[in-house]
Amino acid sequence: MSVFCCLTSWLCLAAAAALVATVLSKYKRSPEQVGNQVVCLALGLWAAVCLASLSLFWGFTLFCLSCFLMYTYLSEQVWLPVGQKAVLVTGSDCGFGHEICKHLDKMGFTVFAGVLNEQGSGAEELRRNCSSRLSVLQMDVTDPEQVKDAHSKVTEKVKDKGLWAVINNAGIIGFPADGELIPMNEYKKCMAVNFFGAVHVTKTFLPLLRKSKGRLVNISSMGAGVPMERLSCYSSAKAALTMFSSVMRQELSKWGVKVAIIQPGGFQTKIMGTSDAWEKHEKNIMEQLPGEVLEDYGEDYILTMKNFLINIQTLASPDFSPLILDVQHALCAKHPSAFYSPGKMVFLWLCVASILPTSLSDYIWKKHSGSPGHMPRALSLPNRNKAM
Ligand SMILES: NC(=O)c1ccc[n+]([C@@H]2O[C@H](COP(=O)([O-])OP(=O)(O)OC[C@H]3O[C@@H](n4cnc5c(N)ncnc54)[C@H](OP(=O)(O)O)[C@@H]3O)[C@@H](O)[C@H]2O)c1
Repeated sequence: MSVFCCLTSWLCLAAAAALVATVLSKYKRSPEQVGNQVVCLALGLWAAVCLASLSLFWGFTLFCLSCFLMYTYLSEQVWLPVGQKAVLVTGSDCGFGHEICKHLDKMGFTVFAGVLNEQGSGAEELRRNCSSRLSVLQMDVTDPEQVKDAHSKVTEKVKDKGLWAVINNAGIIGFPADGELIPMNEYKKCMAVNFFGAVHVTKTFLPLLRKSKGRLVNISSMGAGVPMERLSCYSSAKAALTMFSSVMRQELSKWGVKVAIIQPGGFQTKIMGTSDAWEKHEKNIMEQLPGEVLEDYGEDYILTMKNFLINIQTLASPDFSPLILDVQHALCAKHPSAFYSPGKMVFLWLCVASILPTSLSDYIWKKHSGSPGHMPRALSLPNRNKAM
């Protein structure tokens, strides 16, 4: 028995040494980043403590698990060279798209910056501040002619080098309001840009991506996974984009194309719009609402909708770096993740919404996001119970 135990211990020790050697060789080939060192040190210490303090079975099992986690983590940190890789980014006039283009240009990528207005100040700034590798392309993602034209220009320029990645970033939020109030044309517009636009661009450029065994990166939103009041229009378009991307991930794996979905939380960009745009939306809503619905909700209630945008604008982060780093990882890591969730607590909210019972996650979200304060006119009447 003791000979058997002794043999088992030696076998475990030999296996542990082999695992450590495998992880170390991976560590040596990974980029020298503080994050890597911290994660490996923590997991390494944890593994050593498990091996030293627990029984042979549990100590060895947890040790193996720690080594596996370290190996998986380090595999995800192996970067591919930028070389002559070319990337197309949609919606680059401002916000995320604009910053992503500048960042990728600095890294040495050949960037095709698709813009909504090639004469606009955002396009001009990209031409002025980026290298000659960057080309600005007029590309309204809802206009098939413009997408086709951009495809011809990209194909002509990349020739045999191929296109490494497409980043579907163009998006609009529309005007947040109760789903019943949002006009049908707003739903259609939101879907046209956030979903059909991205699908069309994807379909158009996929032959190039399949050739390069490249990357498809779709900028969705935390709203695609966490139901939030007043975002029915925006979030349903983003949920459609997320599911489209997930199915594409499965289908394109056989071609060697990897798909990453970015689900950012709140960042301070121009997406929230301006007070002029909000006024137009309010007018549009009031003009299109049937009299009975307008009567029930009341004009005052509709006029408070913009407070939501003002609130989220103040809570949003001005620092885009978590998003930029995630996009960089999706493009450059040998093994990119399927999902990224840049932004404060975004990952936590996505877990809450998908794991907890709906009534509980709805309750937590309501408490966290704060009560809107205003109620529709019909619900705030003193005799509402009799009236309804
Ligand atoms: N900011 C956030 O908190 C946040 C959170 C989650 C997800 N996102 C997503 O991130 C992406 C980028 O948003 P952002 O915050 O950077 O907003 P942004 O500053 O408004 O940028 C969006 C860009 O898309 C362009 N665009 C709009 N309609 C287009 C169309 N039909 N074709 C081509 N381009 C079009 C806009 O052009 P114009 O400037 O000329 O309108 C703008 O350049 C969007 O998909 C958005 O849904 C943002």
